[in-house]
Amino acid sequence: MIVCMSESGTSTTPYDSLGGEAAVRRFVDRFYDLMESEPEYSALRAMHAPDLAPMRRSLAGFLTGWLGGPRQWFEENVGVCVMSAHAALPITAETSRQWTDAMARALTESNIDADLAARMNDAFEKMAGGMSRMAANRDN
Ligand code: HEM
Repeated sequence: MIVCMSESGTSTTPYDSLGGEAAVRRFVDRFYDLMESEPEYSALRAMHAPDLAPMRRSLAGFLTGWLGGPRQWFEENVGVCVMSAHAALPITAETSRQWTDAMARALTESNIDADLAARMNDAFEKMAGGMSRMAANRDN
């Protein structure tokens, strides 16, 4: 988890600095809106179920805990590793790039602080790159 220092010197979480529940909901909704509406993300969209509502809730819940906010998602998904949850999916370098590109756009368009967004994008690129390499190793 990334921990930030506030101006008063006390530590705060990325979840608090980016604006809490409403901000996470805003950028996660923007991410799935882009996935649904932009043809350049159609391969990524095609991997998901027709109804994205459960994913909107699950990704927002995961990222809330990951960013240092309430950990309800982790309490409801004890032992679930987000990397392993993707191990059986046919993720390619291209769908991995679509995911990180759509998320970077969603963060920018939701006015998330640029420094924090850059650190989040960095972490997402590492995770998404690992997911596509896991799939490539499995399928070779
Ligand atoms: C590498 C690119 C990625 C692709 C192609 C991808 C694709 C998917 C797909 C197809 C699902 C299942 C959707 C469904 O059942 O309809 C899913 C679920 C999920 N993904 Fe990803 N994903 C990627 C990266 C990530 C990353 C980087 C994260 C975390 C930051 C993440 C977090 C999640 C979560 C939390 C779920 C829901 C798990 C659940 O509730 O069962 N994904 N993803």
